[in-house]
Amino acid sequence: MLVSATEMLQKAKAGHYAVGQFNINNLEWTKAILLTAQENNSPVILGVSEGAGKYMGGYDVIVGMVNGLIKDQNITVPVALHLDHGSYEHCYKCIEAGFSSVMFDGSHYAIDENVAKTKEIVAAAHAKGISVEAEVGSIGGEEDGVIGMGECADPEECKMVAELGIDFLAAGIGNIHGKYPANWAGLQFDVLDAIQQKTGDMPLVLHGGTGIPTEMIQKAISLGVAKINVNTECQLAFAAATRKYIEEGKDLEGKGFDPRKVLAPGFEAIKATVKEKMEIFGSINKA
Ligand code: 13P
Repeated sequence: MLVSATEMLQKAKAGHYAVGQFNINNLEWTKAILLTAQENNSPVILGVSEGAGKYMGGYDVIVGMVNGLIKDQNITVPVALHLDHGSYEHCYKCIEAGFSSVMFDGSHYAIDENVAKTKEIVAAAHAKGISVEAEVGSIGGEEDGVIGMGECADPEECKMVAELGIDFLAAGIGNIHGKYPANWAGLQFDVLDAIQQKTGDMPLVLHGGTGIPTEMIQKAISLGVAKINVNTECQLAFAAATRKYIEEGKDLEGKGFDPRKVLAPGFEAIKATVKEKMEIFGSINKA
């Protein structure tokens, strides 16, 4: 059964570890992540961007696929199905479709409008037991065509948004989506520290989990980060494994392009990547 992400993240924050949000794109990714969570007795969050939602055929398809896998694969660890960087309209679509968590990314609105819309979505989501993530500041890099400039969050603004009834808060602290450039200044721990002091027990979210050195991840967890989002790293692992299989000409053997065989190395690569992240985040045996 899907659960909201609230309880698992409150436990993670209190226990000084983080739960991974791994973004999904198809059946293989979803199954790989769920099986890895189960094998390692770890809670997990499946992230769905609006673009991935469209690609997979719509939010009802995704809810059906995830619930079906949980049932047929006997997944008993806590699993949240979460809309990643949702617009106002898509938050409502996911609340209706049966997601258990949504992120309302109102960071591009003026603060007053962000506040009003966040409050509205919190009320609609909480009425159905669904958790809500909000964002302050912006996460740099490019995701699904949305380009964030990567401004660090203002701790006072974080306090104000945290008090709107949201369940966890993403704050920009110099993190970006995708690969980090060679001249990246690193995470701004003084800003994170100030945000945690203003927001108390609120679980904090670190986007752009790909390519952040382990020591920085661990320091961020020690300063209140309880959810870490990973997407690009799974994509790179999947692409490399698939490319290797095709370059070796294995897709031409037997039945030719057999999708079950061609996608199998990518499936295993995602499992390995997810397990490695769960070890670093400390979520193994925390289900
Ligand atoms: P990466 O693609 O950098 O891992 O970031 C994922 C993310 O933050 C999704 O919201």
